[in-house]
Amino acid sequence: MANVNNLGLTLEQLARLTVVDHPLVQHKLSILRDEQTGTKQFRDLVRELALFEGYEATRDFELEPVQVKTPLEECTCQHLAGKKVAIVPILRAGLGMVDGILDLIPAARVGHVGMERDPKTHEPHEYYCKLPPDVEQRTCLIVDPMLATGGSATAAIQYLRDAGVRDIRLLVLVAAPEGVRAVLDFDPDVRLYTCALDRELNGSAYILPGLGDAGDRIFGTR
Ligand code: PRP
Ligand code: URA
Repeated sequence: MANVNNLGLTLEQLARLTVVDHPLVQHKLSILRDEQTGTKQFRDLVRELALFEGYEATRDFELEPVQVKTPLEECTCQHLAGKKVAIVPILRAGLGMVDGILDLIPAARVGHVGMERDPKTHEPHEYYCKLPPDVEQRTCLIVDPMLATGGSATAAIQYLRDAGVRDIRLLVLVAAPEGVRAVLDFDPDVRLYTCALDRELNGSAYILPGLGDAGDRIFGTR
């Protein structure tokens, strides 16, 4: 696995990178990587890991005081200060993470960005995009299990910036050093969350050790 200190990132870039390395996350990720893990369990784990990661990625959401009457007395509590959120999965594999985040933020809107990597050039091709009408007012959580070259993620970030979005957070489950550098170099404000920093890409731009093709494993295709 890669070490965050050996990625050649600046201090400013390091501050925008969070590795969600909670023991439960690492345990679930090990099962996810296993080639013996079947489609249903893989899908369930992607959803669960997205929930854990969403918890970290929303840690700085603002609160405001609210008066609550318990059965015994009135007290001042805290509730979310009306932050508007959009979850933006990169199709297809990102779809597997949407429900985990919706479990945390049920009122979030969901936009879709369709990108498919060309198997030869590894360049992403956009085939579908649809965002909520007020997306520029929302914190956007882009979700995709895999960050390999970073081509799909940077194209999705650019699409959201063009739509006027200011607060963009990218949530991936497994990242290659190449993708981490590409994303943090590409956009000076994006924040990146990953459950693992893997070693490298192979000649076909697959992440090593990785978990294979996330979309195929979520949807049972090949
Ligand atoms: C995978 C993955 C990412 C992308 C990562 O999607 O889900 O979107 O590749 O690679 P990159 O960082 O080099 O762009 P893929 O294009 O295979 O489509 P799929 O989700 O439909 O399987
Ligand atoms: N997309 C995947 O699904 N897996 C990889 O390892 C790289 C890109």
